Amino acid sequence: MSLDKKFPSVADMAAGAAKRMPKFVHEYMIGGIMDETCVERNRSTLNEVQLMPRYLQEAQKPDISTTVLGQTFDAPFGVAPLGLSGLMWPNLENVLAAAAKQHNLPYTLSTYACVSLEEIRKSGGDNTWFQYYPSDTPEIEQDLLDRCKNAGYKTLVLTVDIPVETVRYRDAKSGLSVPPDFFDLKTLWQMVTHPTWSLTMLRYGVPQFRSLEKYYPPGPKIPASVKFISTHMKGHITAERFKDIRAAWDGNLIVKGVLDVGEAETYMSLGADGIQVSNHGGRQFDAAPTPVDMLPAIRQALGPEALILADGGVRNGLDIARMIALGANFVLMGRPFVYAVAAIGERGGDHVMRVLKQELTMSMAQMGCPDLISMPDHLV
Ligand SMILES: Cc1cc2nc3c(=O)[nH]c(=O)nc-3n(C[C@H](O)[C@H](O)[C@H](O)COP(=O)(O)O)c2cc1C
Repeated sequence: MSLDKKFPSVADMAAGAAKRMPKFVHEYMIGGIMDETCVERNRSTLNEVQLMPRYLQEAQKPDISTTVLGQTFDAPFGVAPLGLSGLMWPNLENVLAAAAKQHNLPYTLSTYACVSLEEIRKSGGDNTWFQYYPSDTPEIEQDLLDRCKNAGYKTLVLTVDIPVETVRYRDAKSGLSVPPDFFDLKTLWQMVTHPTWSLTMLRYGVPQFRSLEKYYPPGPKIPASVKFISTHMKGHITAERFKDIRAAWDGNLIVKGVLDVGEAETYMSLGADGIQVSNHGGRQFDAAPTPVDMLPAIRQALGPEALILADGGVRNGLDIARMIALGANFVLMGRPFVYAVAAIGERGGDHVMRVLKQELTMSMAQMGCPDLISMPDHLV
């Protein structure tokens, strides 16, 4: 059966992923914080956004390309950073970076990804961005930023919405630890009963934080990584810390995890090149507002020229249109790309990107919207 028949939508890919991922991995991916109301709200607020179709206007072949920070992409969406990506599906980073390059979309590599920043940049070229969780050890910060520069990254995505460590109840219950304990009986059983994931994992090896392992203290890797994270990665970013990072990085700087209008203005006034309106997919603070709630006010405050990206709950091309109508220039997604590769394997990245492009194009043609700039005119 063709992929278009078996997996026509992200929802179908999500169902496929649930069958092929061990439970502790699946729970880690879908989970949010506390009661997960924010995860639900990301979806429900998007569903409420109505766009006016107009039929007198012709838009048979809408232009979905867009330029961000001097680079033109084929569509206004890309891959959000995903920590432990190689645990969710082995080699996920390389599969998605390759698909993003093929589709001319950006791929953001997480600090906590399982492929190194150098390897991904080499394969993904200018379509790769690096997401930075700051280290509070100045030498490590400097070295990481130098490595990004030397590897050729032009865009750094600085995540600011993890001031403290949090607990997600699904992970606590399912037995996921960071890094994972593969010898725990519960975990072992889940792996044995999900052979496609396990065999792929055998092929690529136990996931490690490849961009960070050079900083680990001596000793076996797993305990060393735990020690390293607890000692060097306490990343609360104050305005002073932000100024330091801005001064140390002379490439493009996007601030991810902004929801407050005043903070959006502050980051821009301190030299950010763009902000990513995001509540981390509902994974950090359950009472947080959604991008849908905040985008219009943030756009109004920052003005028409500011670069605003957004993520959270986007599951199809129509949702991308909705975010753009509300004021975003560009839209990122996290979980949908994992669903696709987990459900389909290596062809999943290409398939989901094609589906999303088609859905966006179809929605715009139906709306009579010829290009992305015209999208806000359709907001009801
Ligand atoms: C499993 C998972 C891991 C994530 N890891 C990171 C990360 O390492 N860095 C980061 O800035 N955001 C991380 N995020 C947040 C995403 O970048 C993005 O904000 C979120 O997934 C968007 O919501 P969506 O999954 O509904 O599209 C993660 C999200 C998920 C689901």
